Amino acid sequence: MNILVVGRGGREHSIVMKLAESDRVNQIFAAPGNGGIAEQATCVRIDEMDIDGLVDFAKVYKIDLTIVGPENPLLAGIANRFREENLAVFAPTKEAALLEGSKRFAKEFMLKHGIPTADYASFTNADAAKEYINEKGAPIVVKADGLAAGKGVVVAETIEQAHQAVDDMLVAKSFAEAGATIVIEEFLQGMEFSLMAFVHENNVYPMVPARDHKRAYDNDEGPNTGGMGAYAPAEDITAEHLSFATENILQKTADSLVAEERPFTGILYAGLIMTMDGPKVIEFNVRFGDPETQVVLPLLRNDLLQVITDVIEERDPHLEWENNCCAGVVLASKGYPASYNKGIPLKNLDSLAEGFVVHAGTKQSETGLVSDGGRVLLAGAKGTTLEKAAELSYQCLNSYSESSEFFYRTDIGKK
Ligand code: AMP
Ligand code: GLY
Repeated sequence: MNILVVGRGGREHSIVMKLAESDRVNQIFAAPGNGGIAEQATCVRIDEMDIDGLVDFAKVYKIDLTIVGPENPLLAGIANRFREENLAVFAPTKEAALLEGSKRFAKEFMLKHGIPTADYASFTNADAAKEYINEKGAPIVVKADGLAAGKGVVVAETIEQAHQAVDDMLVAKSFAEAGATIVIEEFLQGMEFSLMAFVHENNVYPMVPARDHKRAYDNDEGPNTGGMGAYAPAEDITAEHLSFATENILQKTADSLVAEERPFTGILYAGLIMTMDGPKVIEFNVRFGDPETQVVLPLLRNDLLQVITDVIEERDPHLEWENNCCAGVVLASKGYPASYNKGIPLKNLDSLAEGFVVHAGTKQSETGLVSDGGRVLLAGAKGTTLEKAAELSYQCLNSYSESSEFFYRTDIGKK
């Protein structure tokens, strides 16, 4: 089969690496890809949002299956278009993708279908929002309704901070249309974990639970980022809680989407928090998580292409997982998630012998591989324990420990 992977991050590199192991793969293309993906796939210069361009490419290059990494093209209707053109795509329609694209939609959906999540109310009017905050007290969580690249959530410690977030979103319009509606939510406490599943309509096949590290610095300090590291499995989550989350969150969501005539195909990602009352949903994503994918796919024993075709064709893929742990540490550009430099030469990558390297913001330049984003790469490794996996990942990053251009968290896997 000829496969097209849409996207340019670590998640997409990880998908390409896994697909490259498959005997059933003829050629892999990535649009637009990155410096690491270019080693296993043919990168083509088509932007993720250029849906016409992607459709044309898939036709001309006889693509048998397209896998979409990021959320923006999903909400723009890439899966709808591909299906209209009779092109096979493993991705949800824009109607199903609304679960990620609108927090208000997701909250109403969960309330309607009895899917456990934090209490909430949604607002377009700042005064009404502030009144609700005064009534509920702090801590409280303020969220922009639409896509905000992971930056649209404010966990407010005080009523003043919550009011400020309301003013930023509804009055100053800091997220433009994405923040024209806000969701204000009860603050939940507990360990967070991510549970992803391969889904086609009513069929749900969960992966191993993973844990992201969203804050920029050690001890969960600093601003939220796209994710500074991850590990899998999240061993503190009991089998009982996992089966509860699979049945009452993932399966119920898939079934309710079918019932609402928005059947889901693709990866359903539940961001969960382990509360005293059991797992509850913090957010849904409608795609592979980044960086969770980079530590989950290496543990998958099955051929990824076989799994996806099985799921689409309604066969049980019989997922099998290694009895190992996998950790991954992100190397980021100094300054990320705010401003940072690009184009800095990446050295010593070849010496990262133990473990594996997944590229995110890298590109091939005339002088060799250079940085091209905030999150540059992820150094990962497997081990019989999480401690061993994390230790190996950190060995890979040794040569960057004194870097003045890059930084990484030193506590991935300790939480
Ligand atoms: P999100 O972008 O929705 O994943 O939110 C970013 C982060 O904000 C989450 O990973 C949580 O740590 C935190 N967060 C979001 N909603 C809540 C909530 N209701 N209670 C506590 N923390 C939350
Ligand atoms: N790791 C969270 C996300 O992919 O949005």
